[in-house]
Amino acid sequence: MNTSNKVAIVTGASAGIGKAAGVALLRAGYCVAFAGRRETELNSALASAGADATRGVAVVTDVTNPASIKALFDATVMQFGRLDVLFNNAGIGAPPVDIDELTVDQWKAVVDTNLTGSFLCAREAFRIMKTQSPRGGRIINNGSISAYAPRPNSAPYTASKHAISGLTKSLALDGRKYDITASQLDIGNAATEMTERMTAGVMQANGTIAIEPRMDVKHVADAIVHIANLPLEANVLFMNIMASKMPFVGRG
Ligand SMILES: NC(=O)c1ccc[n+]([C@@H]2O[C@H](COP(=O)([O-])OP(=O)(O)OC[C@H]3O[C@@H](n4cnc5c(N)ncnc54)[C@H](OP(=O)(O)O)[C@@H]3O)[C@@H](O)[C@H]2O)c1
Repeated sequence: MNTSNKVAIVTGASAGIGKAAGVALLRAGYCVAFAGRRETELNSALASAGADATRGVAVVTDVTNPASIKALFDATVMQFGRLDVLFNNAGIGAPPVDIDELTVDQWKAVVDTNLTGSFLCAREAFRIMKTQSPRGGRIINNGSISAYAPRPNSAPYTASKHAISGLTKSLALDGRKYDITASQLDIGNAATEMTERMTAGVMQANGTIAIEPRMDVKHVADAIVHIANLPLEANVLFMNIMASKMPFVGRG
C-alpha cells in the first residue's frame, strides 16, 4: 500500500481523453487506477506512462455494471489506501440518425454509460471520501460542449451531457458537509477516436457538412491535473476547453 501520493480513478482510461488524463496524473505524482472494458488497451495506456506506470493499476471495469464499479473502487482502496480524485470520463455516443430511427437500446446504452455510470462511480467515491481520513476528495465529471448546445441528431448524447451538469451541481452541493468537491470539464473537439470523423466532415446545424478543427488531447489532460491539484477549499465548478476555431461561439 502506498499512502504518500494522492490517489485517482480514471474511467474510460483505455483510450483518448481518459488515457491522456491517467498518464498526466501519474506524471504529476498520483497513484492512478485505469478503468475500462478492454484489458489490452488499458495495460498499454498504463505502460505509455513509462517509469511512472509503477504507481498505476489497470482494472477491467464496465461502468454500466454496478458490481464491476464496486470492484474497481474496492481494488483501488485495497491497493492505494484512499481515494482523492475520481475522473468520471467513460462515455459513448449513439448513431447520428433522426430520433424516430433510434432504438430504445441505443438510447439506454448512452444513458447507462454516460449518466448512470457517472452516478454509480460518484456514489462509490462519495462513500469512500466521506469516511476516509483525511476526509474528502474531488469528483470531476466529463461533460461536453453538448452540455450546452446539441449537434444535429444527438439527442441521447446531448440529453446525457445536460444531465451531467445537474449531477455535478448536486454533488458539489451535497458534498460540502463532507469536504467533497465536484467539477465538470466541458470539452470541445479534442483529437480522439470519438472525434476522428470530424477530419472527414460532420453535419452542421444548417445541414451542410464541414471539417472541424480539433485540439491536442494533452490540453485536456493538463486541465484535469490543474483541477485535481486544487486544494479542497477551492473548486472549478465548470471549465470549458475547446478547439479555438471549432463552430460553437458566434452561432456556428
Ligand atoms: N473528444 C472530445 O472532443 C470530447 C468532447 C466532449 C466530451 N467528450 C467526452 O470525453 C469522454 C471520453 O471521450 P473520448 O473522446 O476520449 O472517447 P474515446 O476515445 O472513444 O474513449 C472512450 C473511453 O470510454 C470507455 N468506455 C466506453 N464505454 C465504457 C463502459 N461501459 N465501461 C467502461 N469504460 C467505457 C472506453 O473504454 P473501453 O472501450 O475499453 O471500455 C474508452 O476508454 C466521453 O465522456 C466524451 O463524451 C469528448
